[in-house]
Amino acid sequence: MGLKLLAANPKAALVIGGAGVALLGLGLGYKYLRTTEKVVRVGVVSQLLIHPLKSGRAVPVAVAECQKLGFRSGELRDRHWLVVTEDGHMVTARQEPRLVLVSLSCDGGQVYLNGPNMDELSFPIKQPDNPIIDCRVFSSDIQGRDCGDEVSRWLTRYLGADKTCRLVHFEPQMKARRSVDSEPVFPPSERVAYPDVAPVMLLSEASVENLSSKMEKGVTVERFRPNIVISDCEPFAEDSWEEIQIGSVRLQRVMSCGRCILTTVDPETGVITRKEPLETLKSYRLCKPSEKHIYKSAPLFGQLHTVKRTGTMRVGDAVYTISR
Ligand SMILES: *[C@@H]1O[C@H](CO)[C@@H](O)[C@H](O)[C@H]1NC(C)=O
Repeated sequence: MGLKLLAANPKAALVIGGAGVALLGLGLGYKYLRTTEKVVRVGVVSQLLIHPLKSGRAVPVAVAECQKLGFRSGELRDRHWLVVTEDGHMVTARQEPRLVLVSLSCDGGQVYLNGPNMDELSFPIKQPDNPIIDCRVFSSDIQGRDCGDEVSRWLTRYLGADKTCRLVHFEPQMKARRSVDSEPVFPPSERVAYPDVAPVMLLSEASVENLSSKMEKGVTVERFRPNIVISDCEPFAEDSWEEIQIGSVRLQRVMSCGRCILTTVDPETGVITRKEPLETLKSYRLCKPSEKHIYKSAPLFGQLHTVKRTGTMRVGDAVYTISR
């Protein structure tokens, strides 16, 4: 009968068909609106940076795997090596500014250390017979596998430090630090190895240009040690990106990065001035009064994220904000 009707009156079929599509559309639309996400393209990844050694030089990569503990590219992992004193206290560029000139890279199971006027030193990534050192990173305890006496002598000589320095490596079976112990706004489940607090920090080129335009001598992005550098957006656009997608990675903003004296170390010379760009930043990037209990007097520059969905991202990938 239906067929007969269709054959007899093609116009009726069109109406019925139209109503069916409209009803289906309504149903889907309802479902779509309720569950889907609003996706907006807000920028492009211009650099991906891994800092395998805390306070050391960045290693730019074209592709990075983003895991819960942060970036990885082959054997390189972000902030998985740390300089410590013999009693395990972390040593960063705050105490030893020339650390920013030390580069650590990995290849074929070996670690390579380089620094100005130093011979390259290599040693195995895995040294299971070396002792594990109990370390302190800010106010929390974490372990690290000692990288050996030769590395210790190399670092101590390079830094000209009055105390012996050692290098430790965070291994996968070790217990990572809880971010919440340093910053109460982090979810209690979040962990990091040797970063200050977050697995991922991102910053836009436009924000760095904005800061530079206010200074006599400009600054570059390296000084701020982000993992993800973003182009094609307005200055400080990243401040309002709560949830973002890059490649197959989903990131969740937790807080702004409150800046310290480390930003006053010149990444090209390893000289600390303790002044700029911190003073300029403080002139216009202090937090709202309602957030003073979180940031105190630290100016805000860059955003700290946790990894909501692990995956891979590439230089050139679009950055999308996700909202519901
Ligand atoms: C820098 O950013 C501020 C917002 O904090 C904006 O008002 C100002 O116009 C920007 N300046 C430049 C040169 O982009």
